[in-house]
Amino acid sequence: MALELINVAKSFYTEGNKNEIRVLKDISCVVEEGRFISITGPSGCGKTTLLRIIAGLEKTTHGKVILDGKDISSQTSMVGLVFQEYALFPWRTTLQNITMGLEIMGIPKEERIKAAMDYVNMFGLKGFEHRYPHELSGGMQQRVAIARTLIMGPKIVLMDEPFASLDSQTRNDLQEFLLDLWQKRKDTVLFVTHNVDEAVFLSDEIIVFSNRPATVVARVEVDCPRPRDRTSLECNQIRKKVLDTLRELRRDGSRIDT
Ligand SMILES: Nc1ncnc2c1ncn2[C@@H]1O[C@H](COP(=O)(O)OP(=O)(O)OP(=O)(O)O)[C@@H](O)[C@H]1O
Ligand SMILES: [Mg+2]
Repeated sequence: MALELINVAKSFYTEGNKNEIRVLKDISCVVEEGRFISITGPSGCGKTTLLRIIAGLEKTTHGKVILDGKDISSQTSMVGLVFQEYALFPWRTTLQNITMGLEIMGIPKEERIKAAMDYVNMFGLKGFEHRYPHELSGGMQQRVAIARTLIMGPKIVLMDEPFASLDSQTRNDLQEFLLDLWQKRKDTVLFVTHNVDEAVFLSDEIIVFSNRPATVVARVEVDCPRPRDRTSLECNQIRKKVLDTLRELRRDGSRIDT
């Protein structure tokens, strides 16, 4: 088993601890090694907060996060996070962005450049290794962000709406690129998206979060055979199931528990 969340709850406190914002109420789930799991749910329900907790950037208020049998609730660990925005360093080139983590770890320059060049080639970035982020297309920038995460060999890959700012064609291309990569590398992936079509195309399972404070309201197994046809009847049936659950949550939205 790669990741286990046990009764994870999270509140933020503002105005000198007077005001409690309950974000996650009670999240429990198991993400088996090598699985591709998507999380979807209403805006502001706590998806990014959960990824930040798993990445060790936030602490839980209650509950545990277990990675490969170890409680990592209060430490940073071997997880890689690809953010909602590209979050590349604008003053660093493609190569310098990809090698960033290795540099922090003190890997010698020659070695880290050799490793990064493998990713440059594999990710279709050849010829752009000395360019800065503003000289790259959105799709390329996101490939750099993914390479920068994967080069560290994380135990689990966390992706927070990584394709949200891309046009639909580039988005589809990158989904296929990511799937290809995942099938070769067998990474464990936790992928947050608002796009149900994307979740169905990519995932083994889709977890639907409730309105804030979030709990798991549905777990939908995506058992369509791969490679998938987005327009197939099976994919559409699963899309409908998830969309119906989300519609129900929107109806409930006026009763959000704070
Ligand atoms: N550091 C913080 N201090 C106070 N409140 C916070 C903090 N971080 C997040 N929140 C609140 O927690 C809630 C959940 O935020 P989060 O970013 O996790 O939602 P989300 O599900 O990722 O939303 P979206 O789908 O729009 O990206 C929001 O109400 C947000 O304002
Ligand atoms: Mg978010």
